[in-house]
Amino acid sequence: MLLGVAYYPEHWPEERWETDAQLMQEAGIRRVRMGEFAWHRMEPVEGQFDLGWLRRTIDLLGRHGIESILGTPTPTYPAWLHKKYPDIHQVKSNGQVMEFGQRQDACKNHPGYRLYAQRIVEKMLQALGDHPHVVAWQTDNEFGCHGTARCRCAYCESAFQSWLRERFGGDIGALNAAWGTVFWSQDYNGFDEIALPRDTADRTANDGQNPGLVLDFYRFSSDVQVAFQREQVRLIRRYSPGRPITHNLMGLFSQIDYFDLAEDLDVVSWDNYPFQANGTNRPLAPLAHDLMRGLKQKPVWVMEQGSGPGGWGTFAATPQPGQMRLWAYQAVAHGADMISFFRWRSCRWGREQYWHGILYHHGVPQRRYEEAKRIGQEFAALSPELDGSVVESPFAILYDYDSLWALESQPHVSTGFGYVEMAQHFAQALARAGVSADVASMQVDWRPYKVLIAPCLHVLTPKVADALKEFVRGGGTLIVGPRSGVKDEENAIVDELLPGLLRKLAGCTVEEYDAFSSIPGLDMRVRDPNGRVYHAYGLADVLAPEGSAQVLLSYSEHYYAGKAAAIQNRYGRGTCVYLGTVLDDAGASDLLQSVARAASVAWLDGVPNSVEVAYRVKGSQRYAFYLNHSASPIRVSLTGPGVDLLSGQQLEGSCEIPGFDLVIVKEAV
Ligand code: GLA
Repeated sequence: MLLGVAYYPEHWPEERWETDAQLMQEAGIRRVRMGEFAWHRMEPVEGQFDLGWLRRTIDLLGRHGIESILGTPTPTYPAWLHKKYPDIHQVKSNGQVMEFGQRQDACKNHPGYRLYAQRIVEKMLQALGDHPHVVAWQTDNEFGCHGTARCRCAYCESAFQSWLRERFGGDIGALNAAWGTVFWSQDYNGFDEIALPRDTADRTANDGQNPGLVLDFYRFSSDVQVAFQREQVRLIRRYSPGRPITHNLMGLFSQIDYFDLAEDLDVVSWDNYPFQANGTNRPLAPLAHDLMRGLKQKPVWVMEQGSGPGGWGTFAATPQPGQMRLWAYQAVAHGADMISFFRWRSCRWGREQYWHGILYHHGVPQRRYEEAKRIGQEFAALSPELDGSVVESPFAILYDYDSLWALESQPHVSTGFGYVEMAQHFAQALARAGVSADVASMQVDWRPYKVLIAPCLHVLTPKVADALKEFVRGGGTLIVGPRSGVKDEENAIVDELLPGLLRKLAGCTVEEYDAFSSIPGLDMRVRDPNGRVYHAYGLADVLAPEGSAQVLLSYSEHYYAGKAAAIQNRYGRGTCVYLGTVLDDAGASDLLQSVARAASVAWLDGVPNSVEVAYRVKGSQRYAFYLNHSASPIRVSLTGPGVDLLSGQQLEGSCEIPGFDLVIVKEAV
């Protein structure tokens, strides 16, 4: 359990560094991340390098018992490089150039940028790779932020053509067939005729183009980021062996396949700004935490957690007393072993003047510093207990970027349905009942899980369909959301009865599908056989059971009233539930509860809305975290007696948790 902070020594006079290091040490800060935007300070003039200032900072911090994580400085290229290569910038789908002055905006396929980026990383590694106080590396910073994951410049166009040539084995006919380019006379005679999806006559690039082209472009763009990172990973492994490599990912950011990006990393870390999540200072369901942990199915680091009001022009509310600490423990409860705050001291200049850190611009320690210090002290005390503990989950939510991207460009309805929304919806229902869920890829071994939730298997390959069948045949439960089995790998719609490859497993066919949310005044509801009624949103797959499948829910409105909305089917030793619509919270909770109970997974009833219950385990020892996300005290029932690791008090039955506070119960074994 480590506390860290993002530090920018280059923003402050060198005489101040000692004070900073002392204050950090007193706060129990054990790690500092530095360097990721300092290319110009490292190479002020082309070919002239200066890493001395960074070495001096690392040395000084080391004397205060603080270890360094270094970020490679490639997100912000120097102005001299921009002058040298005026076409270094990324291009948006409308042809507009991303001008100098932001970050992540150099094109990763630009040969000059690639060359100079590699060179500065290599120089940095040669200078600091073996420094004893450098304990880990971060590649770049937040790949794809500010809408930079999908560049449409000329370099990308020719790289995309090569990528497609390889994907289709050089056979343009195969591409034409896969994408169905016969539609609107879009057949290509060669790969060199293929243009990147840009804004068309009717719509923006995302949804105004051939779906096959769009999905492949999204895949290609993700691969570009992964390949760029891979070059840096290779250099780091060569010059700084043995030190873990990470990248600070962005939680639910969806334009890069994070499973692919994480494959080259040793540790996943990510940036958590809870106040940004919903503007109400109350974190959403922990889906982002669970996805980040799920990428490598290993503990994660939070590389940045908001520690002050964040914003550029306007800024969010300041974390209230207790919230920095509560959010840090929320991350710990979901599997984080390091929490690093962004940033140490708010910067006096630049785009992020109002993105506040632990200290205000004046650098004098105040309330938020004291809160960080409390966390530092607690982490030190808790480490012997919690180090080595992990999150174990009976449920997994499947995360499939192909389906997500297909729905991103063709969302079906304007609100209420989408891959992330559906995943969030299920995650919230589980979180309300204290059920832990991993977020899992389509490739991992699902056998450790009792229940898989597939929010929407929109793009489905025979391989994945077979793996799901095997999981259910072996005794697992699978819940599948609406509009599943609709498309093949090329984003073409299948030519069989829906849900296509899932028909046998799901025990049903889709008679019709309907985007009912566009009908004014229609309040769609569904009911279960016992007469319980729930609201439904967005769209409906109207289902017909096959064989011995059982109807769980039926629509009660519109011309398909009485037809099935959810079907349960026994398959082998397991069960598949096909849900044809988006249920309200009560409906989702009741459905998941019945599945959980059937799978012998504990389901907590009556957890207050603002309270989150989550667990870490070490061997047979369980640590139960009860987090109160509201400002008022709340009484909660405990799942078992034990000692609160924070107060040392013995607790049993129930306990009152102050506003924005928590208890961690080491449950009696
Ligand atoms: C991100 C970046 C940081 C900083 C913060 C606040 O998480 O990684 O560099 O810009 O956002 O904007």
